[in-house]
Amino acid sequence: MLRTLYKMTRLRGPALIALLSACAAAASMAGCRGDRSGKPPREFLIDMDDQQRWNPQSRSDFFADGRTMRRPMPHTVPFGRTDVDPGAFEGQSWAEHVRIQRASLLKDSPQEAFGTAAGIDPLRAWIGLDEADAAERFVRHIPIQVTTELLRRGQERFNIFCAACHGYQGEGGGIRDNVGYGGLVGRRWSYAVPSFHGPENPVTGQNEDPMKYRDPSRYTGRDGYLYYVAMNGVRAAPSAPGEDPKPLMPGYSHALSSEDGWAIVAYIRALQLSRDASIDDVPPGPREMLNANRRALGGDQ
Ligand code: HEC
Repeated sequence: MLRTLYKMTRLRGPALIALLSACAAAASMAGCRGDRSGKPPREFLIDMDDQQRWNPQSRSDFFADGRTMRRPMPHTVPFGRTDVDPGAFEGQSWAEHVRIQRASLLKDSPQEAFGTAAGIDPLRAWIGLDEADAAERFVRHIPIQVTTELLRRGQERFNIFCAACHGYQGEGGGIRDNVGYGGLVGRRWSYAVPSFHGPENPVTGQNEDPMKYRDPSRYTGRDGYLYYVAMNGVRAAPSAPGEDPKPLMPGYSHALSSEDGWAIVAYIRALQLSRDASIDDVPPGPREMLNANRRALGGDQ
């Protein structure tokens, strides 16, 4: 073999020895790749991999109960992932989401947290909904104060989380007369996404009843129901016992504080009101602009 190497490379003496030892070193380093070994891996740079610690779920001789993992103190409620006191950072914008998260997690009113009426189990409120008896399951009015600031927040959150399917005006999805309605998703495939406005909307037919989402004597018209859907999505009852409910719309409670949820409901109500508004409801400045646009498009006024 040496002879062949010699022939192939024409190396001799020290150069050949150097080459052979380099190969041997490379082979010994690469040789273990892919093999299983019970030994700890070789570490050339000892970073912080190797330090004193407790493994989760392991035994401890330090604590009397023998558990390494400690239980939370009695009467404590974990919330969020950021352990700061937002009060200490009053007025600083980065602490704002912690304040909202804390306020919404530590509140004790189920009406505000879930949108369900007093005495209703929030986990079961969606099951077997029908107009006859379900109107009482959800709160009728938004239980927090509606301010201009809340509406702005609702507009922003709606546009981020709902408009992709429901459209920026809540017009619902689908294609009609070759025009796609709804947001990015709804326009393409989702004829199932309902309009919040009823038949005056171009995508009629799927939402026959104009009062569906407005009449508060029905569950769909209750503010609490809109909130509940924003947070939990829509599920179809399982067709057989033991089956999982079929998800029809995803819920957004992972991304929305309860204040955000109510802000979105307030904004949907504003969208609905705007459908019924006449040009005289628009303040003078923007009204003039709208009229000018209308004239430019060849309309009257
Ligand atoms: C991924 C697409 C998608 C997104 C995003 C989405 N929805 Fe929906 N939504 C649907 C679909 C599809 C339906 C119809 C479900 C069905 O078949 O009943 C629906 C139905 C609804 C309904 C009517 C429920 C009923 O019982 O009539 C409401 C209210 C609603 N969505 C509110 C919201 C709100 C608020 C948001 C934002 C937080 C949102 N949706 C985000 C797809 C979506």
